Amino acid sequence: MAVRRLAEPHLQPASFTFTDENLAWAKTQIAKYPEGRQASAVIPLLWRAQEQVGGWLPQKAIEHVAEVLGMPNIRVLEVATFYTMFNLAPVGKFHVQMCGTTPCMLRGAAALIDICNRRIGHQYEVMADGKFSWVEVECLGACVNAPMAQINYDYYEDLTPETFEKILDEMAAGRTPKPGPQVDRQLSAPIGGATTLKETT
Ligand code: FES
Repeated sequence: MAVRRLAEPHLQPASFTFTDENLAWAKTQIAKYPEGRQASAVIPLLWRAQEQVGGWLPQKAIEHVAEVLGMPNIRVLEVATFYTMFNLAPVGKFHVQMCGTTPCMLRGAAALIDICNRRIGHQYEVMADGKFSWVEVECLGACVNAPMAQINYDYYEDLTPETFEKILDEMAAGRTPKPGPQVDRQLSAPIGGATTLKETT
């Protein structure tokens, strides 16, 4: 895990405010919580701000969310810098979040990280053509299908160096590889089919 800092000043936009549509949506989220607990909406609002910007959170967006929620800037900054789902600098068209926690490491994540370093470059850097960026993250909750990576909104699971490279190739070529397990299994069911409850009589 690398240190998470705000993007360099030259990358930061001068201002950010929610669009009218997003502000209206934000108010519906805030209204879900009791009076005095508006801060509970901080994660959905940060997420919507990240989507509005196009994949990352500038400092002004973090401050705007703080203003909308009536929170000190530092409290929102703490959330944005803690969760790796929030990108603090621009990311590539395809942003790879590679799980590097123990179950994935035991199942070969180190080789996948080597591929990221070789093909994409340093963490948090966007390739010159804008296509890829990557970051190592903690457990994404799909350990049964280790090793795995999240690319944009999709999980790619049961990866090998070969299947991971193929996924990157497909994306680079403008195609959409099938997400989910990359081996013959249904979701997180046993590889090779059911092992229990096979008697139907
Ligand atoms: S350890 Fe990788 S998904 Fe849990």
